[in-house]
Amino acid sequence: MRPDVSPTPIRLADYAPPAWVAEHVDLTFDLAPRGARVRARIRFVKGPGEAAGGPLRLDGQKLRLLSAAVDGTDALPSITVDEEGLTLAPADNAPLPDAFTWEAEVEIDPEANTELEGLYLSNGVYCTQCEAEGFRKITYFPDRPDVMATYAVRIEAPTSIPVLLSNGEPGATGPLPGDRHFAEWTDPWPKPSYLFALVAGELVAHTDAFTTASGRPVALAIHVRPGDEDRCAYAMDALKRSMRWDETEYGREYDLSVFNIVAVDDFNMGAMENKGLNVFNSKYVLASPETATDRDYELIEGIIAHEYFHNWTGNRITCRDWFQLCLKEGLTVFRDQQFSADMRSEAVQRIDQVKMLRARQFREDAGPLAHPVRPEEFIEINNFYTATVYEKGAELIRMLRLIVGAETYRAALDLYFDRHDGQACTIEDWIAVFEDASGRDLTRFRLWYAQAGTPRVTVSEGWVEDAPGQGGRYTLTLRQETPSTPGQPLKKPVPIPVAFGLLGADGRELIEPGVLELDDTERCWSFELPERPVPSLLRGFSAPVILERRSSEAERAFLLAHDRDPFNRWEAARALALEVMMGAASADAFAEALLPAITDASLDPAFRALLLTLPGEDEIARETWSRGRPADPDAIHAAAKAARKALAEALEPELRGLYEAMETPGPYTPEAGDAGRRALRAAALGLLARLPVGAGMAEAQCGAANMSDRLPALAALLASGSPAADAALDAFAADWRHDPLVMDKWRMLQATASRPDTLARVKALSEAPDFPWKTPNRFRSLVAAFAQNPCAFHQADGSGYRFLADWLIRLDPVNPQTAARVAGAFETWRRYDAKRQKLIRAELSRIAATEGLSRDMAEIVSRMLD
Ligand code: PHE
Ligand code: ZN
Repeated sequence: MRPDVSPTPIRLADYAPPAWVAEHVDLTFDLAPRGARVRARIRFVKGPGEAAGGPLRLDGQKLRLLSAAVDGTDALPSITVDEEGLTLAPADNAPLPDAFTWEAEVEIDPEANTELEGLYLSNGVYCTQCEAEGFRKITYFPDRPDVMATYAVRIEAPTSIPVLLSNGEPGATGPLPGDRHFAEWTDPWPKPSYLFALVAGELVAHTDAFTTASGRPVALAIHVRPGDEDRCAYAMDALKRSMRWDETEYGREYDLSVFNIVAVDDFNMGAMENKGLNVFNSKYVLASPETATDRDYELIEGIIAHEYFHNWTGNRITCRDWFQLCLKEGLTVFRDQQFSADMRSEAVQRIDQVKMLRARQFREDAGPLAHPVRPEEFIEINNFYTATVYEKGAELIRMLRLIVGAETYRAALDLYFDRHDGQACTIEDWIAVFEDASGRDLTRFRLWYAQAGTPRVTVSEGWVEDAPGQGGRYTLTLRQETPSTPGQPLKKPVPIPVAFGLLGADGRELIEPGVLELDDTERCWSFELPERPVPSLLRGFSAPVILERRSSEAERAFLLAHDRDPFNRWEAARALALEVMMGAASADAFAEALLPAITDASLDPAFRALLLTLPGEDEIARETWSRGRPADPDAIHAAAKAARKALAEALEPELRGLYEAMETPGPYTPEAGDAGRRALRAAALGLLARLPVGAGMAEAQCGAANMSDRLPALAALLASGSPAADAALDAFAADWRHDPLVMDKWRMLQATASRPDTLARVKALSEAPDFPWKTPNRFRSLVAAFAQNPCAFHQADGSGYRFLADWLIRLDPVNPQTAARVAGAFETWRRYDAKRQKLIRAELSRIAATEGLSRDMAEIVSRMLD
């Protein structure tokens, strides 16, 4: 458990440059499960700031300091150690010299490290996680990203641990007395401590090679536990494509002779971009047709790319302080989105991104945890690895690119890499390269980084006919307003690029499509047109806003049929579906509008699958609340169920037709074309399973050999309410009992199922003696998945809320970062009726009152209670 720290927020406004900077770090590790030794030799020089040369503050937590020396003597200046680190101050007899070498030996306990920050053991593999503030659990250090040093590392371990890895270039290796050996690594590129990594274990490598554009060879390796080596091929392929793509699209080459990836089973997040040694949650590396779904393959491709792209956006150019987190994350997410759009269908990728943005970021922006893309204060930085920093951060860059144009965007990035290579930077630096490259004043654009909340854009239109049948003048008025968020009652207007087109009755574009810049509270545009148009606004979701335009069913059906912008076609379908599910439109009319598109063989099956996938219940709850009514999870569930059934009835023959037509011939390949066919088939099955005929089809498909077909079939069977579901679940478990990643899927299905006994089942699974809840993937597959269950979690007696709170209280002392993250499930409490609100608040208060609560959890819970 962490020491109790007074929750004083850290503020961006208080940033001061470091008093001392580390230039070079030598580390020697002597690995042991308990009592691992770390010897550090660090060269310090005076820092750039006002405090330069003053006392040296080193962060350090849970370290047993064994010895320390300055310039080789233990006649030290005054040294005071506390829970959070130590201070080395000039003393009369020994002032700190202008430059000196600090040496310290500490002992740490990897086996007892369940927080998974610092050096820990995962399934027998030693590994580190240092972002954001984990390095201080390895040795004393100014653990802040603006201190960048070169590193040389020596790892000593028993020979039973054959693979010894760290950042940078491999150096000497050799035997040591007593069945031990060592390996050395040097990293020539100065880096912040959060990018340090060490991995040691009994691992096998899947290797390959890459030659950079300028002809330098790079040895590639993915290290996994024995038995997993045949599940690495796709990740390796994705890595090579990422490396090539960064060269061709951004002119960025890899800069070391080796690139290592390691898959570990215990990991708080998705993956980590440590220099030359990316560490991954095994879920985002390992894939075979039998164990991974198409979605898993897609995520592996995207995350491999994301971590690789960090080598330039994050590592070569890093963040000055943690308030600037979006500098690396927003940009790297945007880059991985561009990559995925190039590898797969751009339209489908964009729709998936927006679905995610709305489900997670809009939700965050509308609740008690809302914060700006660049926050101004935090208590625990781990709580700010959020959808806002990542996904909204990426949207801001997408807007910048739209505003300045693709070519200027590329010029701005070239300038960014040129000007800031090797530096720790701020959002001001980032905006400045865009101003310099484009000659535009982006003062107002900065507000996007500073203001929380999702702007609402309302649309009003006018049409004045010149003379009957002669065309006329069309006026379009856009108005923006951002609701207040915690600590930010008043908002200023932000510049909003609205990509648009104006369509004639036959569906053609009446004018050249373009971008309207809503750069004030309200703006009005007018157009001379031959006929009154139907506007297609916010094409491609050109800005992260909520667009409100009163629109008829007929108009939506028209856009669904005719819009050239695939995003807005899908958006029209989604709007119609929402109306159906909220009881404001008929399923038959929706089916009729949908029919031509879903059976249009010229359209990408993956896109058609998206059209057929109805909004989830969480989205309906959000929409209900935003229209001013409390969300009733039971009523929403009943309405959603009825809408799905009605749609299935209306489209039954076509759905059956699609189901047959989309069968993929030949062996499984993860390629996007096949994946799209499987997705469309699964969407059809998901609806058909609401009809008596569909349950049997789902049951039959549960025998599929590949997971992409098997998992949606099992989900459909569960949703159908068929009595065969339990036997199918048992058969699945019998096949996969030995595979933890696959069993996560099995648990997740049950936790998210809408069955009357879901909570009882989830409880039973969570109480099973062999449920390894301390592994974050396992915890998330059951407890966090249950908290996403739109009905069972919100049952009226509060038992779902109590279940989650009990588990959060249990996990918090073991792994505060993951516990606090999962606690975010409560952030939507304001959507619900008074009774549920009271129940949730009671659970939050109970958590808040728990003794010894972590800083992570204390911050999250108190923000949600405010
Ligand atoms: N920096 C990682 C990424 O975005 C995420 C991460 C954060 C991983 C903190 C671990 C700890 O890829
Ligand atoms: Zn990242």
